[in-house]
Formats: sequence, structure tokens, C-alpha cells
Amino acid sequence: MDVKELSLEEKLKLVMGKNAWQTEDLDGKIPPVVVADGPVGLRKTVTTDWDGNTFKTKTLPAVAYPSFEVLSQTWNPALAYAMGECLADDCIDIDVDVLLGPGVNIKRSPICGRSFEYFSEDPFVAGVFGKAYIEGLQSKHVGATLKHYVANNNEVGRNWASSNVDERTLREIYMRPFEISLEAKPWAVMSSYNLLNGVRVVQSKECTDILRAELGHGDKLLMSDWWSIKDSTQAIKAGTDLEMPFDEAHKNKVKKDFAEGKITETEIDACAQRVLDFVEKNAKERALRKCTYSVEERREVAQKIEEEGAVLLKNNGVLPIKNGQSVAFSAQIMDRYYVGGGSAKVVPEKKVEPLVDCLKAALPDSPFKSAQMWSNDYVQSFKNADGADVSVVMVGYEMGEGNDRKYLTLKNWDNEDWFIKAVAKRNPNTVVVMFGGGVVDVSEWIDDVAAVIHAGYAGEMGGEALANILTGKTCPSGKLTETFANTQKDYPSENIFFDGFDYNYDEGMDVGYRYFDKHPEKVRFPFGFGLSYTKFEYADMDIEKDGEKLYVSFSLKNVGAVEGAEISQIYVRAKNGKVEKPLQELRGFAKTLLKVGEQKRVRILLDDRAFYHYAVEKKAWVKDSGVYEIAVSEHAQSALLTKTVEI
Ligand code: GLC
Repeated sequence: MDVKELSLEEKLKLVMGKNAWQTEDLDGKIPPVVVADGPVGLRKTVTTDWDGNTFKTKTLPAVAYPSFEVLSQTWNPALAYAMGECLADDCIDIDVDVLLGPGVNIKRSPICGRSFEYFSEDPFVAGVFGKAYIEGLQSKHVGATLKHYVANNNEVGRNWASSNVDERTLREIYMRPFEISLEAKPWAVMSSYNLLNGVRVVQSKECTDILRAELGHGDKLLMSDWWSIKDSTQAIKAGTDLEMPFDEAHKNKVKKDFAEGKITETEIDACAQRVLDFVEKNAKERALRKCTYSVEERREVAQKIEEEGAVLLKNNGVLPIKNGQSVAFSAQIMDRYYVGGGSAKVVPEKKVEPLVDCLKAALPDSPFKSAQMWSNDYVQSFKNADGADVSVVMVGYEMGEGNDRKYLTLKNWDNEDWFIKAVAKRNPNTVVVMFGGGVVDVSEWIDDVAAVIHAGYAGEMGGEALANILTGKTCPSGKLTETFANTQKDYPSENIFFDGFDYNYDEGMDVGYRYFDKHPEKVRFPFGFGLSYTKFEYADMDIEKDGEKLYVSFSLKNVGAVEGAEISQIYVRAKNGKVEKPLQELRGFAKTLLKVGEQKRVRILLDDRAFYHYAVEKKAWVKDSGVYEIAVSEHAQSALLTKTVEI
């Protein structure tokens, strides 16, 4: 339909939602598009009965998948694709047209309340996962909404604070994940709450023009984040097509501004047409939708993501636990955090089996004692720990949209840092299972414990997945996609004062390992780190060029005692470049499953921007000739094979 067929009144209706979760249907003239959160599980809110004074809403239950932090720690984009497919079926089941995800914001700050909803500190990892997730979702004709464009990296002050970023950092670090994800052609992009260099993103023509003309979104839909628009006329003029949710006062203001000539019909038409195209695209795709995964199959995907994405950070050999060994299990909360908070929160569609029950079931011959501490009643936990072959302590913390974490330690509740130390004093074979959505400062107790698993927000199948890892049914393979520094103060972003209005990204390109490679002493567990129950050997590295493409290959062998998967990373190091660059940048990775004794030849294609930088003066990406060292690494601080190449 051409926007010219509509009246002004109809156009003004179109550029704003009908309510919080639907686009305008012009009294039945066009079909509405139903949108819903969220990236790690469908969260469709429905209005239930009027209880006398207010409408009550409730969230429909759906499969709760592990968080994006865990998904990226699988380093397996095929799982992101599968999660997208499953979420499409979740949407098809309850008639949702467009999912409000994925979020690909960079993890600049370790305390960001939405870290669990985002993939990584590295733009290549974030982009590759965002792209695969969108491809999976849209392969089943459900729309994706790539969000939050751009540089919304903290929650405190998100509605008014300005992220002040230099142009090169903005392109190479904060916009790059969007650029890679946009290769999957998401039906929509959602902009962010914050200002960028003093201009509100959702009202910034410059940001919108870059998104459309340079990053690849073209003429597809751009929607606001909820209630993020302060001046609707400015937003339309900037090319933000759809204001969410509906706001009567804003609509009237645009009408008034139009009458006063502050906005032209052409400007309104441009946005209204993109909404019409979005509606028509959905109507066509809707007819092609078919649910193919049963809920059980979707749960299996959720479990697989946790099994492949949990990260074994320490293990002195106490893991895996053998059937028959006596186990003492303790926690302050037995049904630990399986999902994060905020708009990504999901109501699981099944009873979530607590880890303690899953573990007990996985060790049928093991004497098993468990205790939940109530307000300092630790005695039973300590008695149980005394003399047990293995003592498992489950800890975790809440986090979510709208707030940033106050600290990275486990000083929450009755102080789980202290509790871990107290149990470990009674049993050196103490295994810590950490739930939560981001990095943890483990310095207070890491030397006292025998093993640590970083479980993340584990989803509704987290208990089963982690029991399989703890008992060795599954060999852990996950690796970190965010650096664990020693303490919060070791992160550059935490040493730049936030005055309530400005986040000054003075660290520039020094985000994550790009900073910590210059300060290795500040790192507890490096980017790309994760342990296994088996061992791998790397050999015979080769580099081959095929036109503009560059492949790195090497042999990988499982020289351990169990089958396992290894995540190999390729870092590119500019040696004599004329341009200042990070010491190394991740430009490729692969995950390889190997049986005991099996050897495979691994071949990795490098990112097509591997040898480029964004030249601000040219307003373009430039390929930098020169000598580069290519490293095949098991994590950011451990290059196992290297070769130099001339570009
Ligand atoms: C929220 C979030 C966004 C979400 C939207 C709808 O504030 O920022 O991610 O999709 O509003 O709930």
C-alpha cells in the first residue's frame, strides 16, 4: 500500500504504536503487527480481567533459555541459530509476529545490569551471534528486532545520560556488532534510550542515516525503545519510524507542530511508508509460518546451550564427581537464578528442577546431604561439609534492566563470599556453582576452593545441564566472552567518573581484552578462557589466501581421556602498522568436537575486516597493508601457534 492513499490523521496514527505491543491497524484497514520481548525467552504480556479498579496483566509462560552471556560462551553460532528457530516456534504458538531481540550492545562496563542480555566485550563475537540468532528466528518467518542502537552500555541514567565516544571507537567497537548482525536483514532495529555525544539517539538524524546508509539497514523499520522519545516531531524528522508505546500527548504535539509547519508531510510520509512496508512484510511472512519444534525439543536446545555455554573456571581434579562419592550440597536459595530481571525476564513454562535434585538424581549411589541456610543457620551446611568427598556450594545474584550492579563480589544476601570461605575451610573439595549474569570478583575465595563453574542464568533446563557437567556426562567446553578481571577497579570503564549525565568513553578502543592485553596482571580469567575434562594439542599451522579471503588452518588432537569440544581462537596482531591498533584483535574462531585420540584439520576464514581500521578523516574503512602476526590461541593470553603474513 502506498502511504499517499492515507489521510494525515491515519499517517500520524501509523508512526506510533496502537498500544504497548501492537502497531496501528487503522480500524481494521490493515492488520496489526504484534511484538513481544524478549531475547532469552518469549514474554508476552496479556491483559486479564478488570479487578474493579485496574486491568491486571500477566506474562504468559514460555521456554526460558539460558542468557546471551551463556549462549556466546558456547562459541557455537549454530546454537544461536537453533535458539532463534525455537523462539520463532514459541512466537508462532501464541501469535507473536516480531520478537524484540537480539540485543548486541558491547560489554564495556562489567556492572551493566543487562550484561546477561548481551553477548560480549568483543564486537566480532557479538556480531556473529546476533547475526546467527536473527537468521534462525527469521528462517521461520518471525521478525527480529536488533537492539539497542547504539552505545547504551550502562543502565543507570540511561534515559538522560550521554555516551561520549570518539568516532573511530564508535565505528569499530560499538557499531560493528550492528553492522555484522544487519547482514541477516532483521525486519527492524530498535534504538536506545541514551544520548550519543550529546544528541538523543532516537532523535538523531545522523545516527539514523549511518544505520541506514552505512551499516546496512536500508529502508527497513526503525522503532524507538519504550518511552524513549522526548520530542516526537524530532524523532520523525530523524527517521525513527515507529514510536512505542502509544502516547496521546505526543501525537497531539506532532499534529500541532505539523499545523505550525515545523514538520512536513514528506517527513511524516517517509516514516509512515516504512511502517506500512513492515506491516505488509509481516502479513506475507505470517502466511508462511509453521511450528516444527515440540516444546520438549525446545527444552533440549535450552539444555544444550547451558551444557555448551557454562564455563569451568577452576578444577583441581575434584570434578567430575563420581557416582558413589558422598556429596554435601548447600545454598542460600535452592531454586537459584535461572533467568535475569527486567524486560528479558521469562516465566518458565515448566517447573524448573533445582540443581540439588538434578545432581542427586545423577548420582544414585552417592550418599547425599543438602542444606539450605536460613538467616545465618549455617550449622547444618558445615556439618554436612565435614567429611564429605565433595562439597557443592551454589551461589548467585539478581541483576537486570534499569539498574547496574553495585559490586562484582558476592556480598549479596548473607554474604556468599564469606559463606564459600567458611564451607571451604571445612572441606577442601569444595565446588562453587555461580549463577548470575556477568563477571564476578572471586578474589576473596578462589584460592580456597577446588573448582568453580560459571553457570550464568541457566534457563529452565539449567539444573539438568549442570548436573551433567558436574558428573562428567557432559564435558565442559564453554569459554568466556567477557574478561574476568581481579576487581571492579581493574576495568578502565570503572575508573572514569560517571557524573550522572555523561559516560565519557575515555578508554576509547581499550575495551575488554583490548585493554587487558596491555595489563595482564589485572586479569583473573582472560577472554576466551575455559577448562575442559580433556586436553587438546595444536600443530601444523598454515595460512592460505584466496583473493581477499584469508584462511588459517591447523591440526587439533584430543590427547585426553574423554570426548570433548575445543574452541580455537584466531587473533590478528599488526606488527609495524602506521595506525595505532590494539595489540591483538579476535578475527575468527571455531569449535571442534573430538573423540579420545581423534585428530582433525581445522580451517577458519578470517573476518573480512581483519586488516582494516576505520579512518575517521576518510569516513571509511581502510585496509592497512603491512606485516601481521596471526595467532592460533586457546584464549586471549595463550597463543599456541603463530605465523606472520604480509598484507
Ligand atoms: C524496554 C527495553 C527493551 C524492551 C522494551 C519493551 O525498556 O529497553 O529492550 O524490548 O522496553 O519492553
